[in-house]
Amino acid sequence: MTEADCRSSVAPAGVLAAQADPSGVPFAELDPALLRAQRSSIKWTRFPEEVLPLFVAEMDFAVAPEIRAALAARIEASDIGYLDSPGPLAPAFASFARKRWGWEVPHDHVHLATDVATGVVESLRVFRPAGGRIAVPTPVYPGFFEMLEEVPFEVIEIALDTAREPRLDLAAIERVFAEGPGVDAFLLCNPHNPHGLAHRAEDLAELARLAAAHDVFVVSDEIHAPLVFEGEAFTPFAPLAAAAGALSVTTTSASKGWNLAGAKCAVIVAADARANEVLRCLPPETVTRASILGLHAGVAAFSEATAWLDRAIALIEHNEQLLSELVAEQLPGVRLTRPRAGYLAWLDFRGAGLGDDPYARILSEARVALNDGRHFGTGGAGHVRLNLACAPNTIRDAVARIATILLHPSKESR
Ligand SMILES: Cc1ncc(COP(=O)(O)O)c(C=O)c1O
Repeated sequence: MTEADCRSSVAPAGVLAAQADPSGVPFAELDPALLRAQRSSIKWTRFPEEVLPLFVAEMDFAVAPEIRAALAARIEASDIGYLDSPGPLAPAFASFARKRWGWEVPHDHVHLATDVATGVVESLRVFRPAGGRIAVPTPVYPGFFEMLEEVPFEVIEIALDTAREPRLDLAAIERVFAEGPGVDAFLLCNPHNPHGLAHRAEDLAELARLAAAHDVFVVSDEIHAPLVFEGEAFTPFAPLAAAAGALSVTTTSASKGWNLAGAKCAVIVAADARANEVLRCLPPETVTRASILGLHAGVAAFSEATAWLDRAIALIEHNEQLLSELVAEQLPGVRLTRPRAGYLAWLDFRGAGLGDDPYARILSEARVALNDGRHFGTGGAGHVRLNLACAPNTIRDAVARIATILLHPSKESR
């Protein structure tokens, strides 16, 4: 079955005609003032109430009914103990990966981790215990830099090639792999956050070839992969690594696709038998530190909530189109990199006249909390990241607020 075959037939127009989120909750109920009264996560507690929070990667959408039912059933059964294995999560993930991306995942190649960040850190610890040098394409999800503080690696930033459509800079990657001290590991973000870039298959194949040739261990973070837009191909890195003979693992979860970050359960998947032998040496505690509730939420997500996922993608695509139109109409000098995956929009404010810290100006004057591009590494300055997983009116409100400060710049930037 192809990716198109296994998507539900819900078109973007269907979602919007219903004026509801993927769970059927009317957009009016996703008003930030209402959500703030109901929710306790960082999105709703970090900033005062007059600030519109479009920073952290959490969705405003209600959790899928299938996932709510699975969680309620576990609580009803008082089944909230420790885990001993991936159990039903391995076949649920493998089936999703096969139907969605044509990736055949042997069930015994699936290992548990608390979350994807832990998956990255534990993989690096077990594959490269002595640490060394790790290459990371930038600008990239700031959490990568925080994760890499937990392991003894020197971080080598390799800027994406943004001359046209952003893509991996394979010439620069080859130079870093081949010259001087080389690198021991590579941290891939696939799809790439913040650009919403599903890497090209040929670029990933070349990365795998280079990794095999230079003995570079690749961790592929594929947390945003379920959210690849309609008509866009997603290429998992593992099959390419296996074909090229590169040592690699993939770490992912249902936490972005279905908005389950606090449920705390992710997988680390070995690309081949050689990587699987190493993953068998993960400390046993990595299993017990994952949440049983998160595991069952993940099973329900991957196996039952795929129509919900398709509706979420359709709504995100609609919001992305809306943002693109609003930026063109109301934010002169701002450039949007149009995402093709995930729900994050990367905006270049360098031509907008807000000075060199647009994040701070937008927060303090427009009262919209975005992510500061400077935290994304080389190439991030002058940019901000905006969350699209909300009701369309929230996007309209955010752009209207930002537009007022572009029309009335403060004295220092005049
Ligand atoms: C690329 C990427 N990796 C990892 C994470 C964090 O995932 P987790 O909460 O499972 O550690 C995020 C969160 O937004 C992310 O965007």
